[in-house]
Amino acid sequence: MHSYIIEDMLKIGYLMRGEIIWNKGSSASPSTAWGSWMSASNLVLRDTHEYILIFSKESFSRRKKDKENTITRDQFLEWTKSVWTFPAVSAKSIGHPAPFPEELPYRLIQLYSFKGDVVLDPFCGSGTTCIAALKSGRYYIGYDIKPEYVELANNRINKYLYQTKVQQIKL
Ligand SMILES: C[S@@+](CC[C@H](N)C(=O)[O-])C[C@H]1O[C@@H](n2cnc3c(N)ncnc32)[C@H](O)[C@@H]1O
Repeated sequence: MHSYIIEDMLKIGYLMRGEIIWNKGSSASPSTAWGSWMSASNLVLRDTHEYILIFSKESFSRRKKDKENTITRDQFLEWTKSVWTFPAVSAKSIGHPAPFPEELPYRLIQLYSFKGDVVLDPFCGSGTTCIAALKSGRYYIGYDIKPEYVELANNRINKYLYQTKVQQIKL
């Protein structure tokens, strides 16, 4: 699928920067949809990875005057590698059928945006990107076609904001 998306993005004028393979490893779905069992007749692979496709709009470089980076040296050294390994999160624990772990948008936000930038997630589901944006000192815009997921996202964001406030009062 990812190659079709790349073609479409290039056709509408985006510039491709590269791709990251997210290795979900042992946390990946224990699917048993292997097609034919122990037979070459119609074997189906069970995906334990996802593609993260990175594009720029209009230009590869962004003006950095007055903009603050927040990534640390160790994060930069590790996260600029093209294979990332960390577990997925369970759908049940979040209440959404396909949430991604906060680590995923958090790394991308640290790598590709400056403090105070606005992060847009047009398919924001349970609001994971919005929370990662807040944790990185960015603003966010998130939308989802399903009102119940918008409510779930707002609840998760409010819970995070409440916990942060309580921690600040305790300090
Ligand atoms: C894979 S989920 C995203 C999950 C999210 N990353 C998270 O961590 O919760 C994709 C989301 O896109 C939403 N969606 C599907 N079609 C959409 C559309 N046309 N406009 C906005 N949202 C849409 C779905 O309702 C679903 O919540």
